[in-house]
Amino acid sequence: MKLDTILILDFGGQYCHLIGRRIRENNVYSEILPHDISKEEIVKIGKNREIKGIILSGGPSSVYEKNAPMAAKEVLKLPLPILGLCYGHQLLAYLMKGKVEPAKEKEYGISFATIDKAVAVFKGLERKEKIWMSHGDTVLSPPPDFEVLAHTQNCPVAAFAHKKKPIYGIQWHPEVVHTESGNKTFKNFLFDICKCQKEWKPVNLIKKLVSEIKEEVGKEKAIVALSGGIDSSVATVLAASALGKNLTAVFVDHGLLRENEARQVRETFKKFNLNFVALNEKKRFLRKLEGVKNPERKRKIIGKEFIRAFERAAKKVKANYLVQGTIYPDRIESGYAMKSEKIKTHHNVAGLPTKIRFKGIVEPLKDLYKDEVRLLAKKIGLPKEIISRQPFPGPGLAVRIIGEVTDKKLKILKKADKIVSEEIEAGKLAKNLWQYFAVLLDKKSTGVKGDKRAYGEIIAVRVVESREAMTANFARLPYQILEKISTRIVNEIPEVVRVVYDITHKPPSTIEWE
Ligand code: XMP
Repeated sequence: MKLDTILILDFGGQYCHLIGRRIRENNVYSEILPHDISKEEIVKIGKNREIKGIILSGGPSSVYEKNAPMAAKEVLKLPLPILGLCYGHQLLAYLMKGKVEPAKEKEYGISFATIDKAVAVFKGLERKEKIWMSHGDTVLSPPPDFEVLAHTQNCPVAAFAHKKKPIYGIQWHPEVVHTESGNKTFKNFLFDICKCQKEWKPVNLIKKLVSEIKEEVGKEKAIVALSGGIDSSVATVLAASALGKNLTAVFVDHGLLRENEARQVRETFKKFNLNFVALNEKKRFLRKLEGVKNPERKRKIIGKEFIRAFERAAKKVKANYLVQGTIYPDRIESGYAMKSEKIKTHHNVAGLPTKIRFKGIVEPLKDLYKDEVRLLAKKIGLPKEIISRQPFPGPGLAVRIIGEVTDKKLKILKKADKIVSEEIEAGKLAKNLWQYFAVLLDKKSTGVKGDKRAYGEIIAVRVVESREAMTANFARLPYQILEKISTRIVNEIPEVVRVVYDITHKPPSTIEWE
């Protein structure tokens, strides 16, 4: 039986993966593809999947830009329902001869739409809907044979539908949580229009994933790159049940971890029956980072050193295969050259340099999103401390020390970070927070300590609420907690004279400072 599938053509939007996830949350499988994929390639995918519809994502371009990303005309002529979102909406309008122009005023953030016709994708929506907008161009009139379904104050054609075919365009972002009826819109598209069945259930995949690992590695040996984060932990448990003692879990302590983190990971994985190696590579990483201030360079150096460490570990245990916890967004981001605006080079152990000395890389979670991995983690019985662990960037504290990373700065930051964690956890606030941590700045400030002028370090505290890290709000922490954090930091860390609280949302800021 072929799995019902929605294809998403990626025009480089930051929110493309959110579309993918919203669909999967509705138990329908989705795949993200390059925007210029050919009809032949789609037909090929259709041999293994039941393609039920196509979504065109948003993106940073304007349809009038030189080299603006396009979709192949034949793809848009396939007998499948099509939904264009944001840039996808503008592109449909442009290609089908509607009128698209740069908006007089760019719209960004929360807005309100008037639903003129609550039909098709908008079935069941209210007349006024709270929506999330983020666009420069605007559709001024719909193409011939299309009708307007919604408008906003600045957008006369905020949504349209073809009068006869199942083709729809929406200017706003139903995939973003701030669009209140976003999921209703997706449900209408998936079930009423595309007639999808609810077939996608990630936890049913466990057996299949284990047997695929077995098949790929055979009787050979493998190492798994274990960071202690949820993805690599799930990959480790799956690989351990496939390979038993032929698997060695390698944990690289690059010295950029939070206080006690290395010990915690070691303790957790003691319980699982696997070979476990912890490599203390702190000196090597710090040496390579000496004098490096540029955040992107720091990220690249760390990525490269990671893989070299795994290669050395593999050689020792004679492993030919590397298992890692790459998840779907990691793979897509590095999979094809996109027009996506690069914000920063993300990597965990997945951001491998291209030349890798392994016979094979095994990525059991490569088709799954984080929340799907979390479901698997629960099912296979991973401990709560791993399932609910805050996301932690692969480059670790290096991206939370602005400028050069030194041992001295690391010590200061680790202490401050521990205080932030302790106070948030003591205040029982952790459950509703996405991340909470400290950042060490590269500028000093004047203070008074013990009646004397002190010139010292500044710590920024970053605490955010988020559902998927694409957007985030700074947390409105009670003042008593903030006060406790700042008092403890300046009292317990002699080098620090000032603590500031980061009150920016994402966007425009990112969660991490570098
Ligand atoms: P930003 O800072 O881009 O972060 O808003 C979004 C989420 O991703 C985490 N992050 C990383 N995770 N490798 C990772 O595995 C990285 O290089 C990396 N950089 C940022 C960040 O902590 C937040 O949860």
